[in-house]
Amino acid sequence: MPRPVHRSRVSRKTPAATAPERESAFRYEEFAVLRLLGQRGADRAPVVSSSREIGEALGFLQQATDRYLISLARRGLVLRSLDARKQRLALTPAGLDRLRREYTSLRRIFEGPGTLVLSGTVSSGLGEGRYYLSQPGYVSQFAERLGYTPFPGTLNVRLAGPELVRAAALRHWKGIRIDGFSASGRTFGGATCLVARIGGSPGHLIMPDRSHHTDVLELVAPVELRKELTLRDGDRVELRIEES
Ligand code: CDP
Repeated sequence: MPRPVHRSRVSRKTPAATAPERESAFRYEEFAVLRLLGQRGADRAPVVSSSREIGEALGFLQQATDRYLISLARRGLVLRSLDARKQRLALTPAGLDRLRREYTSLRRIFEGPGTLVLSGTVSSGLGEGRYYLSQPGYVSQFAERLGYTPFPGTLNVRLAGPELVRAAALRHWKGIRIDGFSASGRTFGGATCLVARIGGSPGHLIMPDRSHHTDVLELVAPVELRKELTLRDGDRVELRIEES
């Protein structure tokens, strides 16, 4: 009766064995390897190191360390290449972002909610903001959760250079949730809002769940900011963003 025996052995060891395609949970040990690579500067230049050496530094066995590295590479967090029998390990932007998420949550413990002052330039988008901000499903949530009905549109502020790097942390900040919904046969995604001052004027930074990382921040406010602050494309504006 080999089959039942085999099955029970598998299920005892790996409860998720019935769903082999499912991404396994991110292990603490994988995080430790990622952090070590970050500490060694693998976000700037590949680190040349064997699994045995990394394992020794962290108290893991070589074989287990190999598995963690393979898993990190599969998740797109680490680039692993082997040539001339040397292992080169580099952090990908997603790997660095995973570390940043941890850093952000630790920073909040020791320093409390974050504040970030950024400077960028006003730019025009495709006019989609007006369409989204006119949806009753969003308008009612904004009124209830932000405390005002926003001017229908988003002010786009483009960041560059170091400002862009500093802004990457915002994605991990705690904010005010706006839920997604369905209307007129289509779905509208959720978003997170952070309290903001735009050139001194009150409003919120809105970060749609579905948007990709770009160099543009989108802001909502109770008033038409271009009029209120006499802003035109290319003008520099200061943003002060606060974590909830
Ligand atoms: O896509 P784009 O950002 O160009 O346009 P929109 O989001 O549809 O917003 C319409 C116009 O209102 C744009 O020129 C925005 O910059 C502006 N706006 C503003 O002045 N104040 C706001 N609170 C929101 C949008």
